Amino acid sequence: MDEVKRSSIGRFYKKPLAERQAIAQAWGQLNGDDLQALSDSGLSLAQADLMIENVIGRYSLPIALSTNFLINGRDYLAPMVIEEPSVVAACSYAAKLFREAGGFTASSDESIMIGQIQLLDLPAFESAGALILSRKEQILRAVNERGGSIAARGGGALDLEVRSFPGTLAGDMLVVHLLYDTRDAMGANAINSALEAIAPLIERISGGRVNLRILSNLSDRRLARASGSIPAQALASDRATGEQVVDAIVEAAVFAEIDPYRAATHNKGIMNGIDAVMLATGNDWRAVEAGAHAYAARDGQYRSLTRWRKDDAGNLQGAIEVPLATGIVGGATRVHQGAQVALKLLGVESVRELAEVTAAVGLAQNFAAIRALATDGIQAGHMRLHARQLALAAGGSEADAQLIAQQLIDEDCIRLERAKEIVKERKRES
Ligand code: MEV
Repeated sequence: MDEVKRSSIGRFYKKPLAERQAIAQAWGQLNGDDLQALSDSGLSLAQADLMIENVIGRYSLPIALSTNFLINGRDYLAPMVIEEPSVVAACSYAAKLFREAGGFTASSDESIMIGQIQLLDLPAFESAGALILSRKEQILRAVNERGGSIAARGGGALDLEVRSFPGTLAGDMLVVHLLYDTRDAMGANAINSALEAIAPLIERISGGRVNLRILSNLSDRRLARASGSIPAQALASDRATGEQVVDAIVEAAVFAEIDPYRAATHNKGIMNGIDAVMLATGNDWRAVEAGAHAYAARDGQYRSLTRWRKDDAGNLQGAIEVPLATGIVGGATRVHQGAQVALKLLGVESVRELAEVTAAVGLAQNFAAIRALATDGIQAGHMRLHARQLALAAGGSEADAQLIAQQLIDEDCIRLERAKEIVKERKRES
C-alpha cells in the first residue's frame, strides 16, 4: 500500500485499463459503487433528468489520472475529465519533472466570494455609499441571521464594500459588494439568495432602486497559487542544452506576458488542466474560466496567468496565481457519483486543498505546453496520439493500436483510410 501511495506510479500509461482501475481503487479506497460509477459515467438517467431541463440522455467523456503530483509534500493523483489527447500525458510528465526537484509549493485564500448589488436612481448619489457602509453591521446581520448550511459550517457574510460609477449610460451607479465566506462550497446559490434577501434593505437605506443581484465570477479574493522549479539539466535533450531550453521557455513566457493574442492560447493550455480537474470534481468550470480570464486582464491588458523565470543557479522557476471558486460540497459534486469518486481519488480535506492541487495542475500543464512549443513543437506528440486514436477508430485492437500508429507515423500518412487498410492487412496476415 505504501508503494501505491506514491503518485509516481511507473509506466501507469502502459498498464491495461483494468490495472489502472485497480490502482485507482486502492489509491482512493473505492468501493464497488465507485468502480461502477467510473465505468458507467456516475450519473443515472433519473439523476440526469433532475439535473437540467429537457434531458434526452447522458453524454460521457473519459476520466483519467494524472500521475506524479507532489504538492506541499503530499502525493496526489489528479483526476481529469477531458476529450483532448496529450493533455494528461503531458501533465503527468511535467509533474514528474517538478517532483524530482521537490514538487510544488501551493497556497490559497479563504473561500471569499463577492456578490454584487447594482443600485440606481439614488436621490443622494454622493453620500449613498457612506450611508450604506454606516449600516454595515445591520446588513451583514440580516444575511447571517438567515442561517443555512454554509452558516452552519461557520461561513457567511463578512464585509461590505461600495464602488461608485458616476455618469454611466445608465445614470449614476453604485455597486455594493457583499463579501461572503462560502467555506467548502462554491457558494453561488447561497450568495445569490443572500443578495436577493438584503436588496430591499439596501433600497430602504439608500432610497435607490436595485437592479441586478448576482455573484461576481471575478473571484479575486479566492486566489490559489502554485510554484515550483526544474533544474536546467533535467530539460536537456539531444537537440538542446538545458540552459537553452530554460531560455526558450522564459522567452515563450515573456511572449504571453506582453501579447494578448499569445496570452489567450497560453492560458488556454493552463485551463486544459484546470478545467479537466473542475469537470472531474463536478465543479462549475465556466465560472472558473470566467474568473481566470477576467483576472488575466486585471491590469487592463490581457496577460498570462503564469510566470516563468531563470533563477540565479540557471534553473527554471514557474508560478501561477489564479482565482479558483470551487466546491467540494453541494452542487453537482453532491449528485454526481463520478465527481464523488474524483474527490475520493484526490483525497482533499478542504476546498482550499482542491484549489491548490488544481493550480498546480494548471502550472504543470502550462509548463508541458510551452516546453514542447519551445523545443520540438507540439505536433510531434499530438500526431503520435492522433495516430493511435485513428488505429482504434479503424477497428484495431488495444494491443495492436501502438504498432499501427507507429506504421502510420513511419509512412508519414496519419489518415483514417490508411489505418483501415493496415487493420485489414493485419487481419489477413493473422
Ligand atoms: C492546446 O490545447 C494548448 C496549447 O495551444 C497551449 C499553448 O499554446 O501554450 C498547446
